[in-house]
Amino acid sequence: MKEVVREFISKEQIAEKVAEMGAAIDRDYEGQDLHLICVLKGSVVIMADLARAIKKCNVFMHFMDVSSYGSSTESSGNIKILMDIDEPIKDKNVIIVEDIIDSGRTLSVLKDMLQARGPKSLKIATLLNKPDRRVSEVDVEYQGFSIPDEFVVGYGLDYAQKYRNLDYIGKISFEE
Ligand code: IMP
Ligand code: MG
Repeated sequence: MKEVVREFISKEQIAEKVAEMGAAIDRDYEGQDLHLICVLKGSVVIMADLARAIKKCNVFMHFMDVSSYGSSTESSGNIKILMDIDEPIKDKNVIIVEDIIDSGRTLSVLKDMLQARGPKSLKIATLLNKPDRRVSEVDVEYQGFSIPDEFVVGYGLDYAQKYRNLDYIGKISFEE
């Protein structure tokens, strides 16, 4: 079987959307401190671009690594923090930056966990959203693209840890 990746969202379309997301965030937080939390590893690419699309806030970057355990193919509601952020977020404006929201399980647990730390505000920004796959409801304040239930790679997203470096988003298929 050969893995074939076909372009689905171009790098120009991504850049335009990320600029819009940055402008929306600027409108909401202009002049304030803003703490972005990147959920590794997939979100590292959108984190780097979104942070630079925010022009009117003092942006702080944080990185967190979580794993969901339970079944091997689907994310579960159990998450383990592999690496936590190294600063308290109490009374701070926080945005969790995600590459994609699928079932929403990981994110809804993560959001509750961070909410318990008492931030001033806590919102979610994601480049991609697959609403048809949602199992756990989670509010998404800044969304790039809503996409159908298909597996995508590139711009941070992987298949078996590959393709994260593509500068576009592609659909992957398996052919003879
Ligand atoms: P969930 O929302 O808890 O189900 O998990 C979302 C995570 O699943 C994302 O952060 C990705 O790591 C992964 N994921 C979901 N859909 C895709 C996809 O289409 N391509 C690559 N990774 C995906
Ligand atoms: Mg992720």
